Amino acid sequence: MSNSTPTSNRRKIIALLTLVRNIRDKYFMWAKPVWIVAAERYRSMLDPYKRLKFAVKKPFYRAKPTPPEQIHASWSGDPSSSFDVTWQTDMADPKAAIRVRKAGDAEWDVFDAETVPSPGHGFIHKAKARKLAPDTEYEYSVRSAFENEDGPMQFSTKTAPEPGPATFSFAFICDVGIKGRRDLLTDGVEPIMNYIEKDDPLFILAAGDYAYANRDFRFPDTPSAIDAFMRQMQPLITKYPCMFGYGNHEIFHHECFDDWSPRFSLPEGPQGNRFYSFDIGDAHFISIFCPGSRHCSGPDEEQLAWLDQDMSDARARGKKWLIAYQHDAMYAHGKTHPSKKIVREKLGPLFDKHNLDLHLSGHDQSYERTFPLTNVHDDPVIRSKDMTTYEAQKGVIYAKVSPSGKTAGPEYEQNPETARDFYFSYFTEPQQDFMAIRDCSSHHYAIVTVTAAGELNTRVYQVFGPTGERKLFDEFTIKQSESINQRVTNKSEELQVAE
Ligand SMILES: [Fe+2]
Repeated sequence: MSNSTPTSNRRKIIALLTLVRNIRDKYFMWAKPVWIVAAERYRSMLDPYKRLKFAVKKPFYRAKPTPPEQIHASWSGDPSSSFDVTWQTDMADPKAAIRVRKAGDAEWDVFDAETVPSPGHGFIHKAKARKLAPDTEYEYSVRSAFENEDGPMQFSTKTAPEPGPATFSFAFICDVGIKGRRDLLTDGVEPIMNYIEKDDPLFILAAGDYAYANRDFRFPDTPSAIDAFMRQMQPLITKYPCMFGYGNHEIFHHECFDDWSPRFSLPEGPQGNRFYSFDIGDAHFISIFCPGSRHCSGPDEEQLAWLDQDMSDARARGKKWLIAYQHDAMYAHGKTHPSKKIVREKLGPLFDKHNLDLHLSGHDQSYERTFPLTNVHDDPVIRSKDMTTYEAQKGVIYAKVSPSGKTAGPEYEQNPETARDFYFSYFTEPQQDFMAIRDCSSHHYAIVTVTAAGELNTRVYQVFGPTGERKLFDEFTIKQSESINQRVTNKSEELQVAE
């Protein structure tokens, strides 16, 4: 006679499900579970309201194809001599290409596009303009069989300066969302996009969490939410090349790497474009794949080896600034997503070894910025307690700049009357002595300027969603010393002689 009871059977089932989940998380953590794929496919059928809305908005037969959309610029190659344009059409497009000319020129050059099926709806087209002049304004438009009746939309973008001393700036954003959510969580999107346009940077670094498809119930499925995000960003990132990284919402929560990666044109790195890097002027930028979730324990061995070699090569090429960006923060003390020690243990020693200058991140939705630190994998050593000015290669400054549009939200349901005061990721403990400054009362984004004179200046702005008001909240500058400049120049010359 069996001695199993309903309770013991339930325990066995839970143990089995836990085992399956653990195996999935360990060995298939990037794969979208089949039940989520199935749920997404039939989501609109399960909800009569969404089914009706979807049927009205997306008829099975579209009589007239839509013009190119979700157009954006980025750099998969040398930013000083090329740029990429990526866009989407709902039907295959035999004429897909871009027309490019120097601002003011009469003649266009045409660069054909490569086409791949979109992971969502329709097709993605990617074209690369090459052999361009550095630091130059270019006009471009998308050529298509489905152009607007009044002609294609025309855009302009700029190539980056050549390697060597140069002045340029970039915007950093993380945790963005799609504007207009009914829960009001994305009230920072529009003002931040407008401010970035006024700031007029050369390009944008984005560190993940874009569409929040699992929480934005306006869309019938995940690809529709992603399409909406890319449409939203088009006015900004047709002009300012956007270098996308991946957050937990591009990997874990009904969205996955393969939903997003084909939509971007980025440099190659280990395992696709999970990691990648590029140079502008004297600076080297590294996008680190660290999505940020309870499932993620930081980069693997292959990725760490690549990162080590990449930073070493950049210093050998004479790059004076190393700037890394990733989704998961090295230090975060908010209620929503506190940081994980294992990420510091894996990355901290490499950052110390190569004297990383600036690390940008988000995920936990507030602003926290450290003094320059070393030894963060163990007990952090504070290298300077000045609030505004630092010497390069004397510690890493870790800045968690978040959210840039979409707030955390868990308190909204609990305290609707006081939601405005609380639905950022508020701090759970007093400010640490290695933390220079912090704020959990507003949206944030950063404008970072590299100067030809050897300075790296970071300005972090607060943006208040309901009013759209902006305030400069933090500003700090890292300066190169003469001895560092000489050391880097000597190393670069040695490399050139060796070649
Ligand atoms: Fe996140």
